[in-house]
Amino acid sequence: MTTTPQPAGNPSGAAQQAINRHLQAAAHRHLWLHFTRMSSYAEGEMPVIVRGSGQYVYDQHGKRYLDGLSGLFVSQIGHGRAEVAEAGARQAAELAYFPLWSYAHPRAIELAERLAALAPGHLNRVFFTTSGSEAVESAWKLAKQYFKTIGQPSRYKVISRDIAYHGTSMGALAITGLPGIKEPFEPMVPGGVRVPNTNFYRAPEFVASDLEAFGRWAADEIGRAIEREGPDSVAAVFLEPVQNSGGCFPPPPGYFARVREICDQYGVLLVSDEVICAFGRLGHYFGSQRYGYEPDIITFAKGVTSGYSPLGGMMVSDVLMEPFGAGHTGSRSGYQSPRHTGHPEGAGPGGEATFLHGVTFAGHPVSAAVALANLDVFEKEDLLGNVRANEGAFRATLEKLNDLPIVGDVRGDGYFYGIELVKDKATRETFNDEESEWLLRGFLSPALFEAGLVCRADDRGDPVIQLAPPLTCTQEHFDEMEQILRAVLTEAWSQI
Ligand SMILES: Cc1ncc(COP(=O)(O)O)c(C=O)c1O
Repeated sequence: MTTTPQPAGNPSGAAQQAINRHLQAAAHRHLWLHFTRMSSYAEGEMPVIVRGSGQYVYDQHGKRYLDGLSGLFVSQIGHGRAEVAEAGARQAAELAYFPLWSYAHPRAIELAERLAALAPGHLNRVFFTTSGSEAVESAWKLAKQYFKTIGQPSRYKVISRDIAYHGTSMGALAITGLPGIKEPFEPMVPGGVRVPNTNFYRAPEFVASDLEAFGRWAADEIGRAIEREGPDSVAAVFLEPVQNSGGCFPPPPGYFARVREICDQYGVLLVSDEVICAFGRLGHYFGSQRYGYEPDIITFAKGVTSGYSPLGGMMVSDVLMEPFGAGHTGSRSGYQSPRHTGHPEGAGPGGEATFLHGVTFAGHPVSAAVALANLDVFEKEDLLGNVRANEGAFRATLEKLNDLPIVGDVRGDGYFYGIELVKDKATRETFNDEESEWLLRGFLSPALFEAGLVCRADDRGDPVIQLAPPLTCTQEHFDEMEQILRAVLTEAWSQI
């Protein structure tokens, strides 16, 4: 709850109050917040965040908050980095915009080359977008068109996990596994199929005492879904390395190895949706590297620029691009997948297909320049090393909260944690809808913010609090999170 003085040059107190009043009035009149019940601000003030510095952000009154969620899993390097902002400004002055439709520009080329060098396995081709939803949308469209061009036109379905969030555009929404946010937009794009997630805390009885057996069962459920749907109809499996929605479900040991086997067995593409889990969130450039699996496609966004400008994309191997005229000349190893080589069918003149997909701002020059500067910070400050060195301390600090009666489970990896809240620790009984509504939206969200912590209190699955702080955080920040959470959760429990 620290209040900092306004930097020199800022308006006087009275002038600042007038600005604040205007911002509030204009926001109430004209701004529509995403995924927000707007009536909740009908009476009160909308929080307006005006600046950031390091691990902290400041509201219009100068009050400081620890950014325990990196904005929205975005601000890996923290806020207020002048060198990254300046890289964007320089690029805007040099070439603010040119499309990646038929043309290239230097920053997109350099960024694609750099990402190819960082990516796992044989992923060395980058298709840029502006967001995570567009990345997921692109990956599904690529999978569909790819299979059509190699003579397997019946493959169009996608498998994803219960409660998983993969974005909100209509294709991505069909992959998303949250019925509540899909229902108003039915009918969905056809082809979305759900399988169980890896929430070990809520594992079915018969595998509840054996993490590896649980992981094997959850992976095998993907094989069973493919069999049920008809193997010739399934194009791809979309999985996050650590599933965000539901409160950070890490993969059990052996889970991804088994999923890879299943995808290979059925010739289905494995898409690693790393919109959150890439760029250091788990201590590696890509989440798949942490768990040792090689996807066919990676989708990314958010941390690639740490939010200094929007950017997303997907990475694929030359094999997937072969029907679209890639050949193997750029491959780092000359790798060829026996599963997916084939001859383009329905292709244009010269036997080559064109990926019929694109968006105007994909790979925007300013965003690409910013991403390069962001990666420079990663390297200079060894942010991956910082996460790996401190993730144990982060976990241990959050696990102190286990002594609270309301804390059922603390789970996650890297700098990505979920804390599941329960009504009864012994039986793991969760809150009913009404209790959860009061707990999360009525009490915890405003109370945690008031106490100076930005985090997420969510009940898309069972009620959880999520933390994903900037990768620069160290013990002092972990302690601050723990202390705020302890005080607010204790107060919540006393009111239940
Ligand atoms: C795993 C995953 N995929 C896709 C998306 C969609 O990204 P965006 O909000 O940039 O469209 C998100 C957003 O949080 C995500 O977490």
